[in-house]
Amino acid sequence: MRVMHIVGARPNFMKVAPVIRAMDGHPGRFQQRLVHTGQHYDYQMSALFFEELHIPQPDHNLEIGSGPHGVQTGHMLAECERVMQAERPEWVLVYGDTNSALAGSLAAAKLHIAVAHVEAGLRSFDRSMPEEVNRIVTDQVSDLLFTPSQDGDDNLAREGISPAKVRLVGNVMVDSLAAAQAQEDRLQHPIAPGLADLMARLAGHLYVLVTLHRPSNVDDPATLGAILSALVQVAGAAPVVFPVHPRTQERMKALGPARWPGGLHLFEPLGYFDFLALMRKAAVVVTDSGGVQEETTYLGVPCLTVRPNTERPITITHGTNRLAPPGGKALALAIMETLEGKGAAKHKGPPPLWDGHAAERIVRAMLDS
Ligand code: UD1
Ligand code: UDP
Repeated sequence: MRVMHIVGARPNFMKVAPVIRAMDGHPGRFQQRLVHTGQHYDYQMSALFFEELHIPQPDHNLEIGSGPHGVQTGHMLAECERVMQAERPEWVLVYGDTNSALAGSLAAAKLHIAVAHVEAGLRSFDRSMPEEVNRIVTDQVSDLLFTPSQDGDDNLAREGISPAKVRLVGNVMVDSLAAAQAQEDRLQHPIAPGLADLMARLAGHLYVLVTLHRPSNVDDPATLGAILSALVQVAGAAPVVFPVHPRTQERMKALGPARWPGGLHLFEPLGYFDFLALMRKAAVVVTDSGGVQEETTYLGVPCLTVRPNTERPITITHGTNRLAPPGGKALALAIMETLEGKGAAKHKGPPPLWDGHAAERIVRAMLDS
Protein backbone atom coordinates (compact mmCIF):
# COMPACT_ATOMS: atom_id res chain seq x y z
CA MET A 1 0.00 0.00 0.00
CA ARG A 2 1.52 3.33 -1.06
CA VAL A 3 0.82 5.85 1.71
CA MET A 4 1.81 9.49 2.15
CA HIS A 5 1.85 11.18 5.57
CA ILE A 6 1.39 14.96 5.60
CA VAL A 7 2.75 16.80 8.64
CA GLY A 8 3.96 20.33 9.30
CA ALA A 9 3.29 21.72 12.78
CA ARG A 10 4.55 20.62 16.22
CA PRO A 11 1.57 18.51 17.33
CA ASN A 12 1.58 16.59 14.02
CA PHE A 13 4.98 15.08 14.84
CA MET A 14 3.91 13.26 18.05
CA LYS A 15 0.96 11.83 16.10
CA VAL A 16 2.78 10.62 12.99
CA ALA A 17 5.71 8.99 14.84
CA PRO A 18 3.78 5.95 16.18
CA VAL A 19 1.89 5.44 12.90
CA ILE A 20 5.12 5.30 10.87
CA ARG A 21 6.56 2.85 13.41
CA ALA A 22 3.44 0.68 13.35
CA MET A 23 3.53 0.53 9.53
CA ASP A 24 7.22 -0.39 9.69
CA GLY A 25 6.10 -3.29 11.89
CA HIS A 26 4.39 -4.87 8.83
CA PRO A 27 7.36 -5.42 6.49
CA GLY A 28 6.47 -5.43 2.81
CA ARG A 29 2.94 -4.11 3.37
CA PHE A 30 3.48 -0.33 3.19
CA GLN A 31 5.55 1.98 1.04
CA GLN A 32 5.65 5.16 3.12
CA ARG A 33 6.37 8.73 2.01
CA LEU A 34 6.65 11.56 4.52
CA VAL A 35 5.86 15.14 3.50
CA HIS A 36 6.71 18.09 5.79
CA THR A 37 4.85 21.22 4.72
CA GLY A 38 7.29 23.46 6.61
CA GLN A 39 4.46 25.14 8.57
CA HIS A 40 6.78 24.99 11.59
CA TYR A 41 10.47 25.34 10.83
CA ASP A 42 12.45 26.49 13.91
CA TYR A 43 14.73 23.75 15.21
CA GLN A 44 12.85 23.47 18.52
CA MET A 45 9.44 23.45 16.78
CA SER A 46 10.32 20.80 14.21
CA ALA A 47 13.72 19.09 13.69
CA LEU A 48 14.16 18.46 17.43
CA PHE A 49 11.03 16.26 17.45
CA PHE A 50 12.25 14.30 14.42
CA GLU A 51 15.41 13.50 16.40
CA GLU A 52 13.70 12.76 19.71
CA LEU A 53 10.87 10.67 18.28
CA HIS A 54 13.07 8.95 15.67
CA ILE A 55 10.92 10.14 12.79
CA PRO A 56 12.65 9.52 9.43
CA GLN A 57 13.74 12.55 7.43
CA PRO A 58 10.89 13.80 5.23
CA ASP A 59 10.97 12.70 1.59
CA HIS A 60 9.69 16.18 0.68
CA ASN A 61 9.98 19.44 2.60
CA LEU A 62 7.66 21.98 1.03
CA GLU A 63 9.19 24.86 3.06
CA ILE A 64 5.94 26.82 3.10
CA GLY A 65 6.69 28.74 6.32
CA SER A 66 4.45 31.26 8.05
CA GLY A 67 1.77 33.51 6.61
CA PRO A 68 -1.89 34.47 6.77
CA HIS A 69 -4.25 31.49 6.61
CA GLY A 70 -5.19 31.88 2.93
CA VAL A 71 -1.62 32.38 1.77
CA GLN A 72 -0.18 29.59 3.93
CA THR A 73 -2.93 27.06 3.15
CA GLY A 74 -3.01 28.00 -0.53
CA HIS A 75 0.72 27.49 -0.99
CA MET A 76 0.53 24.19 0.87
CA LEU A 77 -2.37 23.04 -1.29
CA ALA A 78 -0.48 23.71 -4.51
CA GLU A 79 2.71 22.04 -3.26
CA CYS A 80 0.88 19.02 -1.79
CA GLU A 81 -0.86 18.55 -5.13
CA ARG A 82 2.51 18.63 -6.91
CA VAL A 83 4.09 15.92 -4.73
CA MET A 84 0.94 13.78 -4.76
CA GLN A 85 0.85 13.90 -8.54
CA ALA A 86 4.51 12.90 -8.66
CA GLU A 87 4.23 10.07 -6.10
CA ARG A 88 0.64 8.90 -6.74
CA PRO A 89 -0.01 7.47 -3.26
CA GLU A 90 -3.08 5.27 -2.74
CA TRP A 91 -3.72 6.82 0.67
CA VAL A 92 -2.89 10.19 2.18
CA LEU A 93 -2.84 10.38 6.00
CA VAL A 94 -3.37 13.72 7.73
CA TYR A 95 -3.08 14.43 11.45
CA GLY A 96 -5.10 16.68 13.76
CA ASP A 97 -6.52 20.07 12.92
CA THR A 98 -3.69 22.19 11.54
CA ASN A 99 -3.58 24.02 8.22
CA SER A 100 -1.20 21.27 7.06
CA ALA A 101 -3.94 18.67 7.63
CA LEU A 102 -6.49 20.80 5.78
CA ALA A 103 -4.22 21.35 2.78
CA GLY A 104 -3.15 17.71 2.61
CA SER A 105 -6.70 16.37 2.76
CA LEU A 106 -8.06 18.84 0.20
CA ALA A 107 -5.24 18.25 -2.26
CA ALA A 108 -5.71 14.48 -2.02
CA ALA A 109 -9.51 14.58 -2.28
CA LYS A 110 -9.31 16.69 -5.46
CA LEU A 111 -6.89 14.16 -6.97
CA HIS A 112 -9.23 11.28 -5.99
CA ILE A 113 -6.67 9.87 -3.59
CA ALA A 114 -8.18 8.26 -0.48
CA VAL A 115 -7.78 10.32 2.70
CA ALA A 116 -7.37 8.95 6.23
CA HIS A 117 -7.79 11.48 9.05
CA VAL A 118 -6.06 10.65 12.31
CA GLU A 119 -7.80 12.43 15.21
CA ALA A 120 -11.14 12.85 13.45
CA GLY A 121 -14.45 13.98 14.92
CA LEU A 122 -13.30 16.46 17.56
CA ARG A 123 -15.46 19.60 17.75
CA SER A 124 -15.29 22.74 19.87
CA PHE A 125 -18.46 24.06 18.15
CA ASP A 126 -16.61 27.38 17.94
CA ARG A 127 -15.92 28.41 14.35
CA SER A 128 -13.94 31.46 15.43
CA MET A 129 -11.17 28.93 16.08
CA PRO A 130 -9.28 28.31 12.82
CA GLU A 131 -8.80 24.66 13.76
CA GLU A 132 -12.56 24.06 13.95
CA VAL A 133 -12.96 24.94 10.27
CA ASN A 134 -10.02 22.64 9.47
CA ARG A 135 -11.61 19.78 11.45
CA ILE A 136 -14.99 20.04 9.75
CA VAL A 137 -13.62 20.29 6.20
CA THR A 138 -11.00 17.57 6.70
CA ASP A 139 -13.57 15.15 8.10
CA GLN A 140 -15.98 15.85 5.23
CA VAL A 141 -13.40 14.93 2.57
CA SER A 142 -11.96 11.92 4.43
CA ASP A 143 -12.58 8.27 3.51
CA LEU A 144 -11.40 6.74 6.78
CA LEU A 145 -11.84 8.66 10.01
CA PHE A 146 -9.88 7.57 13.07
CA THR A 147 -11.44 8.95 16.26
CA PRO A 148 -9.79 9.15 19.69
CA SER A 149 -13.00 8.93 21.75
CA GLN A 150 -16.71 8.16 21.40
CA ASP A 151 -17.69 11.85 21.28
CA GLY A 152 -15.83 12.01 17.96
CA ASP A 153 -18.01 9.23 16.52
CA ASP A 154 -21.14 11.00 17.79
CA ASN A 155 -20.12 14.32 16.23
CA LEU A 156 -19.41 12.70 12.87
CA ALA A 157 -22.75 10.85 12.87
CA ARG A 158 -24.51 14.17 13.58
CA GLU A 159 -22.77 15.69 10.54
CA GLY A 160 -24.03 12.90 8.29
CA ILE A 161 -20.73 11.03 7.92
CA SER A 162 -21.37 7.32 7.47
CA PRO A 163 -20.32 5.26 10.53
CA ALA A 164 -18.91 2.75 8.02
CA LYS A 165 -16.00 5.17 7.45
CA VAL A 166 -15.33 5.76 11.15
CA ARG A 167 -13.05 3.72 13.41
CA LEU A 168 -12.71 4.43 17.13
CA VAL A 169 -9.01 3.69 17.62
CA GLY A 170 -7.96 5.74 20.65
CA ASN A 171 -5.34 8.41 20.96
CA VAL A 172 -2.08 8.31 18.97
CA MET A 173 -0.67 11.18 21.05
CA VAL A 174 -0.83 8.82 24.01
CA ASP A 175 1.12 6.21 22.02
CA SER A 176 4.05 8.65 21.89
CA LEU A 177 3.57 9.69 25.50
CA ALA A 178 3.49 6.12 26.82
CA ALA A 179 6.68 5.30 24.88
CA ALA A 180 8.43 8.44 26.19
CA GLN A 181 7.36 7.80 29.77
CA ALA A 182 9.21 4.51 29.70
CA GLN A 183 12.50 6.32 28.97
CA GLU A 184 13.26 7.37 32.53
CA ASP A 185 16.95 7.98 31.89
CA ARG A 186 16.18 10.48 29.13
CA LEU A 187 13.55 12.21 31.30
CA GLN A 188 16.10 12.64 34.09
CA HIS A 189 18.52 14.50 31.79
CA PRO A 190 16.98 17.66 30.39
CA ILE A 191 18.76 19.27 27.44
CA ALA A 192 17.40 22.86 27.41
CA PRO A 193 19.96 25.34 28.77
CA GLY A 194 19.29 25.99 32.46
CA LEU A 195 16.53 23.39 32.79
CA ALA A 196 18.54 20.76 34.69
CA ASP A 197 19.39 23.35 37.40
CA LEU A 198 15.82 24.56 37.60
CA MET A 199 14.41 21.02 37.81
CA ALA A 200 16.83 20.21 40.63
CA ARG A 201 15.54 23.29 42.52
CA LEU A 202 11.90 22.43 41.78
CA ALA A 203 12.19 18.84 43.01
CA GLY A 204 9.69 18.24 45.81
CA HIS A 205 8.04 21.68 45.37
CA LEU A 206 4.68 22.63 43.89
CA TYR A 207 5.10 24.45 40.59
CA VAL A 208 3.00 25.61 37.66
CA LEU A 209 3.76 24.76 34.02
CA VAL A 210 2.32 27.04 31.32
CA THR A 211 1.87 26.83 27.53
CA LEU A 212 -0.12 29.36 25.51
CA HIS A 213 -0.44 29.90 21.77
CA ARG A 214 -4.11 30.27 20.75
CA PRO A 215 -4.69 33.45 18.75
CA SER A 216 -7.72 34.14 21.00
CA ASN A 217 -5.40 34.31 24.04
CA VAL A 218 -2.21 35.81 22.69
CA ASP A 219 -3.04 37.98 19.66
CA ASP A 220 -5.02 40.60 21.57
CA PRO A 221 -2.61 42.61 23.79
CA ALA A 222 -5.27 43.20 26.48
CA THR A 223 -6.07 39.47 26.82
CA LEU A 224 -2.42 38.46 26.75
CA GLY A 225 -1.63 41.18 29.33
CA ALA A 226 -4.40 39.89 31.64
CA ILE A 227 -3.14 36.30 31.42
CA LEU A 228 0.46 37.34 32.05
CA SER A 229 -0.52 39.45 35.05
CA ALA A 230 -2.33 36.42 36.53
CA LEU A 231 0.81 34.34 36.06
CA VAL A 232 2.98 37.00 37.68
CA GLN A 233 0.57 37.07 40.63
CA VAL A 234 0.80 33.27 41.00
CA ALA A 235 4.61 33.40 40.71
CA GLY A 236 4.62 35.18 44.09
CA ALA A 237 3.37 31.93 45.63
CA ALA A 238 4.83 29.15 43.47
CA PRO A 239 7.38 28.91 40.64
CA VAL A 240 5.84 29.33 37.19
CA VAL A 241 7.68 27.66 34.29
CA PHE A 242 6.67 28.91 30.86
CA PRO A 243 8.23 27.63 27.60
CA VAL A 244 7.02 30.26 25.14
CA HIS A 245 5.63 29.32 21.70
CA PRO A 246 7.03 31.50 18.87
CA ARG A 247 3.64 33.14 18.18
CA THR A 248 3.43 34.10 21.86
CA GLN A 249 7.06 35.28 21.95
CA GLU A 250 6.32 37.71 19.15
CA ARG A 251 3.21 39.02 20.88
CA MET A 252 4.98 39.35 24.23
CA LYS A 253 7.81 41.31 22.62
CA ALA A 254 5.22 43.62 21.06
CA LEU A 255 3.82 44.41 24.52
CA GLY A 256 7.11 46.22 25.22
CA PRO A 257 9.73 45.87 27.99
CA ALA A 258 7.59 47.70 30.58
CA ARG A 259 4.99 44.92 30.42
CA TRP A 260 7.44 42.02 30.16
CA PRO A 261 6.42 39.59 32.92
CA GLY A 262 8.93 39.42 35.77
CA GLY A 263 9.35 36.45 38.09
CA LEU A 264 8.46 33.73 35.58
CA HIS A 265 10.89 31.03 34.44
CA LEU A 266 10.68 31.67 30.69
CA PHE A 267 12.13 29.19 28.19
CA GLU A 268 12.29 28.73 24.46
CA PRO A 269 9.84 26.02 23.29
CA LEU A 270 11.07 22.78 24.87
CA GLY A 271 11.79 19.40 23.41
CA TYR A 272 9.31 16.58 23.95
CA PHE A 273 11.17 14.87 26.79
CA ASP A 274 12.03 18.10 28.61
CA PHE A 275 8.40 19.17 28.43
CA LEU A 276 7.14 15.79 29.63
CA ALA A 277 9.66 15.76 32.48
CA LEU A 278 8.20 19.08 33.69
CA MET A 279 4.57 18.18 32.99
CA ARG A 280 4.50 14.89 34.88
CA LYS A 281 5.65 16.52 38.14
CA ALA A 282 3.72 19.82 37.85
CA ALA A 283 1.10 20.70 40.49
CA VAL A 284 -0.97 22.31 37.77
CA VAL A 285 -0.59 22.84 34.04
CA VAL A 286 -2.10 26.01 32.58
CA THR A 287 -2.57 25.70 28.84
CA ASP A 288 -4.60 26.31 25.72
CA SER A 289 -2.98 23.43 23.83
CA GLY A 290 -5.10 20.58 22.54
CA GLY A 291 -2.44 17.93 23.04
CA VAL A 292 -1.48 19.07 26.53
CA GLN A 293 -5.11 18.70 27.70
CA GLU A 294 -4.92 15.06 26.62
CA GLU A 295 -1.47 14.41 28.04
CA THR A 296 -2.37 15.78 31.48
CA THR A 297 -5.50 13.62 31.47
CA TYR A 298 -3.39 10.57 30.71
CA LEU A 299 -0.82 11.48 33.38
CA GLY A 300 -3.42 12.47 36.00
CA VAL A 301 -1.95 15.96 36.36
CA PRO A 302 -4.44 18.79 37.10
CA CYS A 303 -4.93 21.00 34.05
CA LEU A 304 -6.55 24.41 33.61
CA THR A 305 -7.42 25.16 29.99
CA VAL A 306 -7.62 28.89 29.36
CA ARG A 307 -10.47 28.70 26.88
CA PRO A 308 -14.27 29.02 26.87
CA ASN A 309 -14.64 25.53 25.31
CA THR A 310 -12.74 22.41 24.36
CA GLU A 311 -12.98 20.00 21.44
CA ARG A 312 -11.74 17.37 23.88
CA PRO A 313 -14.63 17.10 26.40
CA ILE A 314 -13.45 13.69 27.55
CA THR A 315 -10.51 15.42 29.26
CA ILE A 316 -13.10 17.09 31.50
CA THR A 317 -15.65 14.29 31.95
CA HIS A 318 -13.04 11.57 32.33
CA GLY A 319 -9.81 13.44 32.97
CA THR A 320 -8.23 16.16 35.08
CA ASN A 321 -9.02 19.15 32.87
CA ARG A 322 -11.10 22.22 33.74
CA LEU A 323 -11.82 25.33 31.73
CA ALA A 324 -10.49 28.61 33.12
CA PRO A 325 -11.20 32.27 32.28
CA PRO A 326 -8.54 34.34 30.48
CA GLY A 327 -9.05 37.16 33.01
CA GLY A 328 -6.37 38.32 35.49
CA LYS A 329 -7.88 37.82 38.98
CA ALA A 330 -10.21 34.94 38.12
CA LEU A 331 -7.42 33.02 36.42
CA ALA A 332 -4.98 33.66 39.27
CA LEU A 333 -7.61 32.41 41.74
CA ALA A 334 -8.30 29.25 39.71
CA ILE A 335 -4.57 28.47 39.56
CA MET A 336 -4.07 29.12 43.28
CA GLU A 337 -7.05 26.92 44.21
CA THR A 338 -5.76 24.11 42.02
CA LEU A 339 -2.30 24.45 43.58
CA GLU A 340 -3.95 23.99 46.96
CA GLY A 341 -5.64 20.84 45.68
CA LYS A 342 -9.12 22.40 45.59
CA GLY A 343 -11.55 21.69 42.76
CA ALA A 344 -9.22 19.25 41.03
CA ALA A 345 -11.04 16.41 39.33
CA LYS A 346 -10.27 12.89 40.58
CA HIS A 347 -8.10 10.94 38.19
CA LYS A 348 -10.15 8.05 36.79
CA GLY A 349 -7.30 6.61 34.75
CA PRO A 350 -6.88 7.07 31.01
CA PRO A 351 -10.02 7.14 28.80
CA PRO A 352 -10.88 3.91 26.93
CA LEU A 353 -8.34 2.98 24.22
CA TRP A 354 -5.81 5.59 25.35
CA ASP A 355 -3.47 2.69 25.90
CA GLY A 356 -0.42 3.20 23.68
CA HIS A 357 -1.74 0.98 20.87
CA ALA A 358 -3.88 3.37 18.79
CA ALA A 359 -1.42 3.40 15.87
CA GLU A 360 -1.53 -0.39 15.63
CA ARG A 361 -5.32 -0.23 15.38
CA ILE A 362 -5.02 2.40 12.64
CA VAL A 363 -2.64 0.25 10.65
CA ARG A 364 -4.81 -2.84 10.99
CA ALA A 365 -7.87 -0.85 9.86
CA MET A 366 -5.96 0.37 6.81
CA LEU A 367 -4.86 -3.13 5.90
CA ASP A 368 -8.49 -4.29 6.20
CA SER A 369 -9.85 -1.37 4.14
C1 UD1 B 1 -0.36 26.15 14.59
C2 UD1 B 1 -1.72 25.50 14.32
C3 UD1 B 1 -2.40 25.19 15.65
C4 UD1 B 1 -1.50 24.37 16.54
C5 UD1 B 1 -0.15 25.05 16.69
C6 UD1 B 1 0.75 24.13 17.46
C7 UD1 B 1 -3.06 26.14 12.39
C8 UD1 B 1 -4.17 26.98 11.91
N1 UD1 B 1 -2.59 26.42 13.61
O1 UD1 B 1 -0.59 27.38 15.24
O2 UD1 B 1 -3.58 24.44 15.40
O3 UD1 B 1 -2.12 24.24 17.80
O4 UD1 B 1 0.41 25.29 15.39
O5 UD1 B 1 1.91 24.73 17.90
O6 UD1 B 1 -2.61 25.27 11.69
N2 UD1 B 1 6.60 30.72 14.06
C9 UD1 B 1 7.96 30.76 14.21
N3 UD1 B 1 8.66 29.59 14.03
C10 UD1 B 1 8.08 28.43 13.69
C11 UD1 B 1 6.70 28.41 13.52
C12 UD1 B 1 5.96 29.56 13.70
O7 UD1 B 1 8.54 31.80 14.53
O8 UD1 B 1 8.78 27.41 13.54
C13 UD1 B 1 5.83 31.97 14.30
C14 UD1 B 1 5.56 32.78 13.03
O9 UD1 B 1 5.66 34.11 13.35
C15 UD1 B 1 4.12 32.44 12.73
C16 UD1 B 1 3.52 32.19 14.09
O10 UD1 B 1 4.56 31.60 14.86
O11 UD1 B 1 3.47 33.48 12.05
C17 UD1 B 1 2.33 31.25 14.06
O12 UD1 B 1 2.62 30.04 13.36
P1 UD1 B 1 1.44 29.21 12.62
O13 UD1 B 1 1.95 27.89 12.22
O14 UD1 B 1 0.80 30.06 11.60
O15 UD1 B 1 0.37 29.05 13.76
P2 UD1 B 1 0.52 28.51 15.23
O16 UD1 B 1 0.04 29.56 16.16
O17 UD1 B 1 1.87 27.96 15.44
N1 UDP C 1 5.17 20.39 23.70
C1 UDP C 1 6.55 20.32 23.68
N2 UDP C 1 7.27 21.40 24.09
C2 UDP C 1 6.68 22.54 24.54
C3 UDP C 1 5.26 22.60 24.55
C4 UDP C 1 4.54 21.51 24.11
O1 UDP C 1 7.13 19.29 23.30
O2 UDP C 1 7.39 23.49 24.90
C5 UDP C 1 4.40 19.24 23.21
C6 UDP C 1 3.31 18.71 24.11
O3 UDP C 1 3.82 17.82 25.07
C7 UDP C 1 2.39 18.04 23.11
C8 UDP C 1 2.52 18.92 21.88
O4 UDP C 1 3.71 19.67 22.05
O5 UDP C 1 2.89 16.74 22.79
C9 UDP C 1 1.33 19.83 21.74
O6 UDP C 1 1.55 20.72 20.69
P1 UDP C 1 0.97 22.20 20.65
O7 UDP C 1 0.56 22.63 22.02
O8 UDP C 1 1.97 23.02 19.93
O9 UDP C 1 -0.28 22.04 19.69
P2 UDP C 1 -1.81 21.66 19.92
O10 UDP C 1 -1.85 20.34 20.58
O11 UDP C 1 -2.44 22.75 20.71
O12 UDP C 1 -2.38 21.64 18.55
